[in-house]
Amino acid sequence: MTTPYDPADDGAQMRFDGRMSYTDYLGLDAILDAQHPLSEAHDELLFIVQHQTSELWMRLALHELAAARTALAEDRFGPAFKMLARVARIFEQLNSAWDVLRTMTPSDYTTFREALGQSSGFQSWQYRLIEFTLGNRNAAMLRPHEHRRDIHEKLSAELARPSLYDTALAALARAGIEIPPEVTARDLARPHEAHPGVIAAWRVVYDDPETHWQLYEMAEKLVDFEDYFRRWRFNHVTTVERVIGFKRGTGGTGGVSYLRRMLEVELFPELWHLRTEL
Ligand code: HEM
Repeated sequence: MTTPYDPADDGAQMRFDGRMSYTDYLGLDAILDAQHPLSEAHDELLFIVQHQTSELWMRLALHELAAARTALAEDRFGPAFKMLARVARIFEQLNSAWDVLRTMTPSDYTTFREALGQSSGFQSWQYRLIEFTLGNRNAAMLRPHEHRRDIHEKLSAELARPSLYDTALAALARAGIEIPPEVTARDLARPHEAHPGVIAAWRVVYDDPETHWQLYEMAEKLVDFEDYFRRWRFNHVTTVERVIGFKRGTGGTGGVSYLRRMLEVELFPELWHLRTEL
C-alpha cells in the first residue's frame, strides 16, 4: 500500500501555534463572520456576499484612485496610468460579478426583500466617495450619512479636494494648454460642468498626440475607466429591472427610473463631446 502524500515532505508549513497563518494575515475570522442573513431565504447569502465583495473591490478602487490622483498632480504619469488601468479592470471584474447575482429570480428576492428595511446601495458611502473622487459631486448625497459623523467627514473632506478630473485638467494647464479660469476656480463641492474651453483644450492634445503623448494617454485612460464605470451602471439597472421591475427601491427612490437617470451622468464630459468634433 502506498503512503498517502504528505505536503510536509515538500516543505509545506504544517504548524502555526504562535505564528501568523493565512487566516490571521487576511483577517478571515472577521470577514467570514460578517454575513448575517435576516431571513431563512436561501438567496439572502448570495445577496449579502455580492454586496460585500463589491464593497471590498470599491475599497481597492478608492486606494488606487487616490494614489493615481496624487501621481497625476506630480506629473508622475507612468504610475498614474498603471493605477487607472487597474481601476478599470476592477470595474470589469465587478461587471462580470452581475452574472452571479442574475441567477436570483424575482421570486427568490421577494422572499427576503422585506428584511432589508430601508437599506440600499444608495447609502454605499464608498460608492459615493468614488463618485466624489472622480468629479460627480452633489452635497445632497451627504445627507444619508449624517448619522455617521466619521463617514460624513470623509465624504465632506473629499468635496473640498480637486477631483481626479480637476487634477487631469491641471496637468493640461501645467503643460501650457489653456484651461478657462472659471473652470479652475469653480466651487469644488459642485460637479464640473462641460465647458467649450475644455473641449478646445483636449482638442489640442487629440490633434497632435505625438507632441502631447502623455496627456493623450491620460485622456484615453480616463475614457477607458469611464467606459467600464458606465457598464457597471448599465448592468446594475438591467439587473434591478430584471429582479424588481419598476417597483420603488428599498432606499426610497423610483428604482429603475432613478438609476436610468444616473446613466446620463458624464464623469469626464468633454472627453466624450470632443469625439464628435474630431
Ligand atoms: C437584486 C439586486 C439589487 C437590486 C434589486 C438593487 C436595487 C437598487 C435600487 C432600486 C437602487 C436605487 C436606490 C433605492 O431606491 O434603493 C439602487 C442603488 C444602488 N445600488 Fe443596487 N441593487 C441591487 C444590487 C446591487 C449590488 C450588488 C450593488 C453593489 C454594491 C449595488 C449598489 C448600488 C449602489 C452603489 C446604488 C446607488 C447608485 C446611485 O446612487 O447612482 N446594488 N440599487
